[in-house]
Amino acid sequence: MNTPVIAVHGGAWAIPENMIADTKLGIQDALRAGYQVLQSGGTALEAVQAAIIKMEDDPNFDAGNGSVLTYDGDVEMDSMIMDGSTMKAGSVGCVNSIANPIKLATLVMEKTDHVLLVGEGANKFAKEMGVPRVEIESLVSPHAKEEWERKTVGHDTVGAVAVDSMGNVASGTSTGGITAKRPGRVGDTPLVGCGGYADNEVGGVSTTGHGEGIIKVCLARHITFLMEQGLSAQEASEKALENMYNKVGSSGGVIVISKDGGVGQYFTTDKMARGWAKDGQIYWGVAMDDIQSCPIVLDR
Ligand code: GLY
Repeated sequence: MNTPVIAVHGGAWAIPENMIADTKLGIQDALRAGYQVLQSGGTALEAVQAAIIKMEDDPNFDAGNGSVLTYDGDVEMDSMIMDGSTMKAGSVGCVNSIANPIKLATLVMEKTDHVLLVGEGANKFAKEMGVPRVEIESLVSPHAKEEWERKTVGHDTVGAVAVDSMGNVASGTSTGGITAKRPGRVGDTPLVGCGGYADNEVGGVSTTGHGEGIIKVCLARHITFLMEQGLSAQEASEKALENMYNKVGSSGGVIVISKDGGVGQYFTTDKMARGWAKDGQIYWGVAMDDIQSCPIVLDR
């Protein structure tokens, strides 16, 4: 039996002072939701989904409710999930009018022979699967609106990686993308090997940051490749992000768990909201050297 571990991130970016407290609470809520699943005997896939749903529902994060807006003021969300036990993946790009894109990505993985559905086709698939439609306005947070009005690039992406007691690895990532993006722009998040990756024989990764740069270096798969060469989760995270910065000038962040439960987390942005839960303890922080921890208290 393996020790269950979950790690989450709520985006690598210059998180303003007035959002830090809520962001930290959101990270802890997501970790508790995911760890509770693992402690109750649930799978890594279920834990990843539970953690991401928490962050998609939290307007402090750029995913689901809280998604940043396109240049035209619309919501276009991307999401992916990957099961390291089967190497199956499901993802969606440019979806709107649903609360939890991670659920739709899971349905793509489980109910179709495809990996990625986008735009109108993805929205039609959501309808076919009976996913409830929500008003786009219900996904727009005051933070996202403010960033759009100022056309400032802010928020970025949520993600989770887990290893369950059976040693199965899963990863998931979800985002509204980047503020004032061109309508139709799809970032790294729904692309396997870029926004995330999971392989039971190595570990799992979820990424955040400048999508165009992450795509160019296939950041998530680069990290698992480095782990295959013998680097630890932490060493691989640092090396791959430094490589991305040096090669294409892009910044970002990652959370990583190796198949034996080793945690890696690193970022080349100002801050990254992230945390992990392991051996009954929860860890979280936003600045590089700011990691707090306490015993994890779960609902009965
Ligand atoms: N990393 C999220 C995006 O660029 O869309």
